[in-house]
Parts: sequence; C-alpha cells; structure tokens
Amino acid sequence: MNKELTTIKQAGVHAGQSVWIGCWLNGKRSSGKIQFLQLRDGSGYMQGVLVKSEVSEEVWTKAKELTQESSLYVKGIVREEPRSQSGYELIVEDIEVIQLTQEYPITPKEHGVDYLMDRRHLWLRTPKQRAILVIRAEIIRSIQRFFDERDFTLVDPPILTPSSCEGTTNLFHTKYFDEDAYLTQSGQLYMEAAAMALGKVYSFGPTFRAEKSKTRRHLIEFWMIEPEMAFVDHEENLRVQEQFISYVVQSVLANCRKELETIGRDISKLEAIQAPFPRITYDDAIKFLNDSGFEIPWGEDFGAPHETAIAEKYATPVFITHYPASFKAFYMKPDPNRPEVVLCADMIAPEGYGEIIGGSQRIDDPELLAERFNEHELSEEAYQWYLDLRKYGTVPHSGFGLGLERTVAWICGLDHVRETIPFPRMLYRLYP
Ligand code: 4AD
Ligand code: MG
Repeated sequence: MNKELTTIKQAGVHAGQSVWIGCWLNGKRSSGKIQFLQLRDGSGYMQGVLVKSEVSEEVWTKAKELTQESSLYVKGIVREEPRSQSGYELIVEDIEVIQLTQEYPITPKEHGVDYLMDRRHLWLRTPKQRAILVIRAEIIRSIQRFFDERDFTLVDPPILTPSSCEGTTNLFHTKYFDEDAYLTQSGQLYMEAAAMALGKVYSFGPTFRAEKSKTRRHLIEFWMIEPEMAFVDHEENLRVQEQFISYVVQSVLANCRKELETIGRDISKLEAIQAPFPRITYDDAIKFLNDSGFEIPWGEDFGAPHETAIAEKYATPVFITHYPASFKAFYMKPDPNRPEVVLCADMIAPEGYGEIIGGSQRIDDPELLAERFNEHELSEEAYQWYLDLRKYGTVPHSGFGLGLERTVAWICGLDHVRETIPFPRMLYRLYP
C-alpha cells in the first residue's frame, strides 16, 4: 500500500489531522453545494463531508459518481462531531476510487428473507448484521475469559467420531476410509475423559445435527461450549451456569452498547440478567402447564410452546431440573432419592428463546453405567474407552453444553438463529 491508512474506529486518535481511510460507500446525500458520504470500513461508520467551494472539481465529481458499495480510499481531516455515532466526521480532501460498483443487489428498501439468505455474503455488510457479528465475537471472548479466569483448561474434542453422544437419530454420516464415521453431535464424552486428566475443562467447537427441524431455534451446524468438571455435583453445576450466563450478558452490556443500539435491543431486559436464577422441577413444571391448560402428561418431553409458557413467568433464565430418566441421555445420574428422575437441568432463556443450556451430573458408578448401556442397546465395544473412565478412578463429575447461536439470538433479541452465524447451515440451506 502506498498510503498509510487508519481506520474509522481509530480516527479519533487523529483528530485535527489529515488521514487516509480504505472504505466502502454505504450511502450518500447531497444538497447541491455540499455532499455527505456515509462511509464504512468494517470497524465503524463515519460521515465524509465535501463542500463544493473547498475541493477541486475533480474530487467533487468523483464523489458525485460514487455508487452504493463502491470501494475507495478517502483522505480527509478528522473533525469532532458530537452528533455522529462515532463522535467524528471526515472533511474530505481527496478520493481515490478502487471500484465503482454497479447495481448492488441489496438496496435500502425492504427485501424478503430468502432473497437476503441467497445473498448472505453481501447481507453481512449491512449495519444490523455487522452489529450481530460484533456481539457474537464479544460473547465468544467473554465465554473464554470466564473459564480461563477460573482455571479451566481449553480442550478440543474430535469432530469426526466413531459413535454418537446424544442418540443416533440425527447423526451426520460419512465414510472414514473403510469405516463409518459421524460428525460430532457433542464433545461431552471426550470432555469427561479430559476432566479426569485436567480437572476442569471446556471445549468450544462446531457440532452437527442432521435434524429435520425447520424452526427458528435449529441449525444443522452450530457451536457449542461444553465445560466438564471433576468433583462437581448437580447443585454446583447450576451455580457455575448462572454465574457464567450473568457474566456473558454483563460483558455484552459493558462492551457492545453501540451495537445493541444499532439492532434496537431493549437493554433493560438484559440488565435484569443477574444470578441466581430460579429453579423449577420437571414435576412442578408439569403441574404448572396442566393448570395453564396444556394437556401434557408426566413423562413427556417439553416442546417450544411449553418452554415459552414456563419462561414467561421470569425476567431471568430459569432452570428446569429433575427430568424423567426415560427420555434423557444415557449418561445422566439418577436422583438417589427418586431414581426415575435424573440430576439434570435445562436452562430456558427468557422472552421465548427456549433452551440455551443442557447439562447434568454424570453417572459415575460403573455397574449402573453398564446397566444403562444394556437398556439403550449401546455397544460396550464401541464405548470401551468411555467405560474405562469409570473403571480407573471414577469420581463424581458434572458438565453442560451451551448453544452459542441460541445465546446470540436471545442476547440480540433476534427472531431467528439464521442471523446469529455468518453462514447458517439449515434444513435446505447450504448456499452460500
Ligand atoms: O441439550 P443438548 O443436546 O446437550 C448436549 O449435547 C450435552 N451433551 C451437552 C453437555 O452436557 N456437554 O445441546 C446443548 C445445547 C442446547 O441447550 C442448545 O442450546 C444447543 O446446544 N442446541 C442447538 N442449537 C442450535 N441448533 C440445534 N439444532 C441445537 N441443538 C442443540
Ligand atoms: Mg437439550
């Protein structure tokens, strides 16, 4: 590059000076003698101002010819402007056009969702989509900070696996040379092995579920954070979760005010997210639902309308605990006082966003685990390594999985998870 560039985000550092910025034209307006360019460079937005009597004819004309999403270098003096979002504007002195864009397909008018999804690679440039990705990055940063500050070790479980963790109905199959392999649904079983080696661990990676669900909460490829903790029981597991979620929400509030404003999020709803969170047992949830007119019998799993009805009672997330063992995963530890329910909890987000965390204390008794393997018709051979964990120094342990995209959807107040991830993989959607 033959010029030294600064960014819009850094422009304030150069107040009063002349700088070059590489950017795109987001839009513009003109009043005859003065042109206002809305510039964006990814780091932020800034208005460029041209006064006809103060720039050359050539620069004035270049600005006039700029179209939406044209790319350019612009030189100007950074001036304080309290009315603008960045606090500054640029008094334009010179323009070097890189490309004049023709017929940009996403205009300020309203477009349908399918139209935008087909152009997701361009849709990302709009202020709302940019703000969501900035908040997503802050959520990821705060998640890592939370666990790193508490002496958890980051561990990466494999993505190609020989067997399932959460049941076989939604596995993505692929060949692994002559063997069969599956894309991971959850790294949990491997994280249990890691917890026996490192004590407190967490993973952060993509997971895959070939779910034929076309809802606003389901992705085929989504990112999960899976902490696993040796010598931690059900109660402490819940305490970690509520501290964790409060921490993440407060970090977004502290560091992403501008972005939350851009997407129009009701900030007071997020300010209310402080631990501890209420807890309700599955039994009480069934009673409440029956009293509210839902005909759901004990022993049946909740659907989205049930979760929403329960969550509506609270301003913070709520834990639903002690689900029936019958429809929960094979590895969950039964309640010693009531073996028909397990020491587990789902965390349900407020405002109808549904389950964001699933977690449990794990079975640590080798005999009971063997029993569960029989009941669930799991091959002891395929999971020999997992059974070894109960054979060689088994300990009480617990963990959970947070779905990143559902968390982003909730914190951003979006009506669909498709906008929470740069390139969503959904039922019938693999492009772009
Ligand atoms: O409740 P799930 O299935 O739990 C597990 O996989 C456990 N093995 C986690 C653990 O204990 N280590 O999934 C965990 C979370 C859900 O609460 C939800 O937030 C998210 O993952 N999730 C999905 N997010 C988007 N699209 C989907 N299809 C999802 N399925 C689950
Ligand atoms: Mg779940």
